[in-house]
Order: sequence, then C-alpha cells, then structure tokens
Amino acid sequence: MAITPPPDPAAGSPLAGCRVGIVGAGVMAEAMLAGIIRQGLATPGQVRCSHPRPARGQHLLTTYGVEVVASNAEAARGADLILLAVKPQALPRVMPELLAVLEPDQLVLSVVAGASTRALGRGLAHPAVVRAMPNTPAQIGAGVTVWYATAAVTEAGKARTRGVLSALGREFEVADERQVAMATAVSGTGPTYIFLFIEALIDAAVHLGFPRHVARELVLDTIQGSTAFALQSGRHVAELRDMVTSPGGTSAEALAALERGRLRTVVSDAVWAAYQRTRQLEADLEQPDRDRADAGPGPAARPGGPRG
Ligand SMILES: NC(=O)c1ccc[n+]([C@@H]2O[C@H](COP(=O)([O-])OP(=O)(O)OC[C@H]3O[C@@H](n4cnc5c(N)ncnc54)[C@H](OP(=O)(O)O)[C@@H]3O)[C@@H](O)[C@H]2O)c1
Repeated sequence: MAITPPPDPAAGSPLAGCRVGIVGAGVMAEAMLAGIIRQGLATPGQVRCSHPRPARGQHLLTTYGVEVVASNAEAARGADLILLAVKPQALPRVMPELLAVLEPDQLVLSVVAGASTRALGRGLAHPAVVRAMPNTPAQIGAGVTVWYATAAVTEAGKARTRGVLSALGREFEVADERQVAMATAVSGTGPTYIFLFIEALIDAAVHLGFPRHVARELVLDTIQGSTAFALQSGRHVAELRDMVTSPGGTSAEALAALERGRLRTVVSDAVWAAYQRTRQLEADLEQPDRDRADAGPGPAARPGGPRG
C-alpha cells in the first residue's frame, strides 16, 4: 500500500530542499524512509534509493514513490545527505563505489553497526560522517538512536541528521564516539533482551495455565505499563520495585529466585558480550586500513573484570 504524503510536505523541515540518497535500502533504511515521508520531513521526489534486487526497488517505488536506481554511486551522486544502511559485511564492497562520486559538502549518515567514523572516513575518503545506532522500535517511530558526528559535520548537517533520526523516535547526540559502540550493546541490541524476557514471562504464564493469547496480553501490558510508570514517575526503578515488595510477600519470594539465578550478572554479561562484539566488528572494518599488530589497545578491558 502506498504511503500518502501530507499536503505540504517538507515545508519548514530540516530536510527542506535536501536531496537524500539511500544506499542499502533494507529494513532499517525503509523504516527511516517511511518515517521521513509520513512525517512530511521530505517529499518522495527528494529521495533516490539504490538496490541490487529489482523486486526490492519496485517495492520502494510503488510504496513510497521514490526514485530507484540500480547503482549505489548513482544514488549518492548529487545527494546532500547519503544514508548508508548496508550490512557491515557489504561495506568493504560498497565504500569504493561511493568514494568515486562523493563531494566534500555531502553528508554521510551511517547506521552500519560497528562501522566507526575512522573506518568510514578512510574507506570513503570523506570527513563529514555521522555514525548512528538506532533500534528496531524505529519501525513504528518508537525507537531510540544514539549518534556521533565528526568535526567536519556542519550545524546544518547536524540539523538534517536530527531531522532524519527524529523520524525514528528519540535521538541523542554524543560527543564521544565510544558511546555509540556502548549504545549498540544497550539500546541497539536492547530489544533482543526485552523480547527474550517477554517470551520467557509469557511461557511462564502459560506454564501456570493461562491461554497463550491471554498470557501475551498480560505480559505486554505489564511491560508497557511498567515502562510508562517509570518514565512518568521519574523515580529510581529500585524504589518502584520496593513499592510492590511486601515483607514476606510474593514479590520478595520471586525476587529471591531471580537473584539465585544471577539475573543481574547474566544481563551484565550479555551487554558486555554485545559490546565486545561491536568492538570486534569495528576492528575488522578498520583492519584494511592498518596492520593488526599496531591496532591499538583493541576491545577495552571490562571494568572490575578479572585481570591478567
Ligand atoms: N535492523 C535494526 O534494528 C538495526 C538497528 C541498528 C543498526 N542497524 C544496522 O543497519 C544496517 C542495515 O540493517 P537492516 O536490518 O536494515 O539489514 P537489511 O534489511 O539486510 O538491509 C541491508 C540492505 O542492503 C542491501 N544490500 C546488500 N548488498 C548491497 C550492495 N552491495 N549495495 C546496496 N545494497 C545492498 C540488502 O539487500 P538484500 O536484501 O538483497 O540482501 C538489504 O536490502 C546494518 O548495518 C545494521 O547493523 C540495524
């Protein structure tokens, strides 16, 4: 079904007059494209996408009315903002195609996991790069994105970045690029942790005897309500938890079982593992640019972790 743009699209938008090129028009790029068009930040006529599969290109054309081209270089040529959303494995193949056509005043906005601005800047021979890490709730405009801009990105470029990323939900600019890698392990990968917890809680409810569809509703409403409560109250989550933990009560009993299962340690280990994997991806993507022997300190030692 085609998305109908609002009546006066792009007027007053940070993307007004901005030509957007999309390279790697998959799930995340489509979420961004849908968001910017639905919210009237850009018109379909401002956007040009490339895709290696004609069927996918046809889908983008039919659904959004954007221009679709076969070559990545063609999508990037003349665009003010280039959204780079290929998988990390495709990056070494795609960067040389873009390098040939990039102009100094263009902005590259990458959502590629593990691609540092160092790897992108070198691979594209282009200094104005934004590295962003969105997450999957972006597909319904409820995502959160952490992003970092190199010194070469102008204020206008940052405003355009905010415009595109706000179409996905909330966005946070950080001054330290390492926080994008950290966010990859926390908010980028976060939905995976939450979905697993939701699944486990639904299964536990079914184990008690609830029909699965009822269990699903109960669990999703509980997660949504608890999140809204935490956001609105502004109180520390431990305080909110204490409010429902009566001495000798059911919550206290359940919490003791969770602590015996080392829930906090397992969560911390999972986030650390995701962070290490991000650092490894970063190192792999930077590898063509440097000898591994002088690759610097590599993934950081875990604070408080075992030494030696
Ligand atoms: N999805 C998320 O929640 C999420 C969150 C944060 C960051 N990211 C990052 O966003 C990027 C895209 O993720 P995704 O989930 O959207 O993956 P995806 O759906 O696979 O999107 C990548 C797209 O690039 C296309 N492609 C493959 N080779 C290409 C080439 N040589 N030139 C141009 N396009 C090419 C793929 O086509 P085919 O379908 O034919 O392979 C696919 O449509 C990844 O780097 C990921 O790390 C994703």
